[in-house]
Amino acid sequence: MIDLSTDYVGLKLKNPLVPSASPLSKDLDSALRLEDAGAGALVMYSLFEEELRAEESMADRFLLHADLGHAEADGFLPDHGVFTSCLDRYLEQLGQLKRRLDIPVIASLNGVSLSGWVELGKEMQQAGADALELNVYHVAADAGIAAEAVEARYIDLLNELRGAVELPIIMKLSPFFSSLPHFVRQLERAGARGVALFNRFMQPDIDLGESPLDRLCMVDQLHLSYPDEALLRMRWIAILRGHTRMTLAATGGVHGYQEAMKLLLAGADVVHLASCLLLHGPAKLGQILHDMEDWMAARDYASVAQLKGSMSQRNLPDPSAVERASYIRVIEGFEPPPGIWR
Ligand SMILES: Cc1cc2nc3c(=O)[nH]c(=O)nc-3n(C[C@H](O)[C@H](O)[C@H](O)COP(=O)(O)O)c2cc1C
Repeated sequence: MIDLSTDYVGLKLKNPLVPSASPLSKDLDSALRLEDAGAGALVMYSLFEEELRAEESMADRFLLHADLGHAEADGFLPDHGVFTSCLDRYLEQLGQLKRRLDIPVIASLNGVSLSGWVELGKEMQQAGADALELNVYHVAADAGIAAEAVEARYIDLLNELRGAVELPIIMKLSPFFSSLPHFVRQLERAGARGVALFNRFMQPDIDLGESPLDRLCMVDQLHLSYPDEALLRMRWIAILRGHTRMTLAATGGVHGYQEAMKLLLAGADVVHLASCLLLHGPAKLGQILHDMEDWMAARDYASVAQLKGSMSQRNLPDPSAVERASYIRVIEGFEPPPGIWR
């Protein structure tokens, strides 16, 4: 029997496959099906700062109107007593998942600003979350803000959240840091217990229109991932494994046992899944687990611990394989398909 167990920010998981933040955790039945399929833990969808702020200002407006006493309009306004905020709904869902699932449940906060919202992590702790993921979904588009200031924002948010909770905190990062190993070390020093690599930014697109009369406009579209995207994660996890003792969670591009195995070999402690579960359902998770076991058995691996990080940079005979040297080799060895140019 192969031992697939792994450590995730101090939590002992029966295996490293963890559904990552997505709408699947909004529905109890979907979460139960993921657990039945073998999920090692579950990351909940995020509580978004913007949603909280929108509700805050709606509640302010409501209270203002109530004070002014527009008697005939009051009837159209929600009764303050029955108004459930997105925070209440989130905590209720977290409580429900904790009561019904045996696997650890990780709550998720998502936002960027520095004014108090991360303290809500305390309520998530009280509702039973086993850990917290903090997703600072920030597009650094301001030419007046230096890289250090962007990094400092993450550290400040982490400090604020640490001040509020004792739970392990995982920082979900984008790939756009100029010195990722240095930044990850700073996060570790500031008390993070793990990093999730990488956030996938939704890319806005330009709609060219059907006819010349259509106005050009920007459209937001959500594209699910492709397996190739796992390679960016694999490289950075292979590099980071030698620089940090924190949990490394891989998120992005895992669609089969191949990506999962490569990420574990590179040094990931857990492998997150979103797109492939949204596309194929919970049975896909069971299939990946089964295929991982087959792959390991055929190579006489007894446990995930035995292979984890064995292909990380520090264990490679040629560590430059994950740095610049491979770039030169690949470019020099590239041939266009036969018959196109010669
Ligand atoms: C429909 C959808 C909803 C998502 N919601 C969240 C979210 O609420 N919070 C978050 O941090 N990430 C969210 N993500 C990102 C995923 O958790 C994951 O990191 C990303 O999709 C990459 O993994 P994948 O290639 O397996 O999809 C969402 C992704 C999708 C596709």
